[in-house]
Parts: sequence; structure tokens; C-alpha cells
Amino acid sequence: MGLLVLPEKYIAGEFVIRSYFPGDGVLLSEAVNGSYDHLKAFMPWAKPYQSVEESEHLVRHFRGNYLLETDFVLGIFDGEERRLLGGSGFHLREGGLDNCSAEIGMWIRADAAGNGLGTRVLTALLAWGFTEWPWERLAWRCDGRNLASRRIAEKAGLALEGVLRGHCRLKDGTRWDTFCYAILKSAWPAQATRG
Ligand SMILES: CC(C)(COP(=O)(O)OP(=O)(O)OC[C@H]1O[C@@H](n2cnc3c(N)ncnc32)[C@H](O)[C@@H]1OP(=O)(O)O)[C@@H](O)C(=O)NCCC(=O)NCCS
Repeated sequence: MGLLVLPEKYIAGEFVIRSYFPGDGVLLSEAVNGSYDHLKAFMPWAKPYQSVEESEHLVRHFRGNYLLETDFVLGIFDGEERRLLGGSGFHLREGGLDNCSAEIGMWIRADAAGNGLGTRVLTALLAWGFTEWPWERLAWRCDGRNLASRRIAEKAGLALEGVLRGHCRLKDGTRWDTFCYAILKSAWPAQATRG
């Protein structure tokens, strides 16, 4: 596939989903630093403190990958783009652009979680992904113990395709299952509205 005309932004009123830009590091640092306890169970990158400088380096890295079409990391901002509500992305873990397939990842900041935002963002990502992006298949994978993550995949209309049993290993030797969800463009939006 040739270079994409890259979609940059999805405006949903309540929130805006877009690529990170240089200067967004201050918002990323503020969002993750207040959310460590909420994120640490299932986000391996979470740490107690992430400086503005480190966050700025990350957002520039994300932007570079976006322009190079190697990974499409996205920020979820409030309507005025003054506050970061969480992060997401279309990740090329399923054969890449040539396969018209991506995996969606997501985290929502602690003080915005549990109010339906994750479900609304995932629903918006399906709408954006299947209209302005080339995706024909969008996947969602999560730790089987992550009940909130499983629930939002179900509410957004993704189908559980299987469970990879004992797929991942923790440092203490325990193993956990990966739940694999996906939705096809050919089934959207009919499947999503049943979710
Ligand atoms: C997972 C996450 C993105 C969901 O976003 P959210 O805004 O909290 O999700 P919503 O409020 O839209 O929906 C959460 C659903 O999970 C349910 N839920 C949450 N915790 C639960 C638990 N421990 N047991 C059972 N259900 C639970 C909620 O009740 C809700 O379902 P309902 O609407 O049927 O009541 C968010 O919680 C998060 O960022 N978690 C930490 C990072 C993470 O795990 N990311 C996903 C990696 S795959």
C-alpha cells in the first residue's frame, strides 16, 4: 500500500482523538502521574512518576511513528484539547497496513474512568477507523482478568474470537489468559449497535 493521506483528528464534541504533537508532553505527564494506581495492573509501561521531559520525548516519538506509518498512537483530549483524558492507538500488530488490519489499545485517566468514556471512545474509534482509515478488521486484546476492558469491547460490539490460555507469564511464574476480540468492517455498524 502506498503512503496514506493520514487522518489526523476525530472530533466527538465531548472529546477529540488525534495524533500527539510536540508540546503535548505536559498534558501526557499530568494525565499519567495522577493515574498510576489505576494503570499499573494492566499497563506495563506505567510508573509512579513520568516527567514532562520524558513525556515530551514520548509524544515526539509517537508523532514520528505516525508520520512514518509504523504505529498510530493517539491521544484522547477533552473538547478544548486542554486536558488529556487518555490514550489509544491503531497498532500494526495484525499484518500492518497491507492487511488493512489494526489492534486498538486504550487507557483512560483515573478520574475520567468508570463513566462510560472508554466505551464511547472505542465506539468512536470504530466509526473513524472504518470510514476514514483503511481498516477492514479492528482487534482488541486484553488480559482476561481485566474485566473493565473485556466489558467495553463487548459494549462496543466486538466479538470474542477466542482465548489464548496461559498466554503470558508474570515474573512470579503465574500465567494469564489473553482474550481476543475483533470486529470486521463488513459487520459494522450493525454489530456495534447490538453491543
Ligand atoms: C479499561 C478502561 C479503558 C475502560 O474505560 P472506562 O471509561 O473505565 O470504561 P466504561 O466506563 O465505558 O465501562 C467500564 C465497564 O466495565 C465495568 N467494570 C469496571 N470494572 C469492573 C470490574 N472490576 N468487574 C466487572 N465489571 C467492571 C463497568 O461496570 C462498566 O460496565 P457497565 O457499563 O456495563 O456497568 C479503563 O478502565 C482503563 O483505562 N483501565 C486501565 C488501563 C487498561 O486496563 N486498559 C485496557 C487495556 S486492554
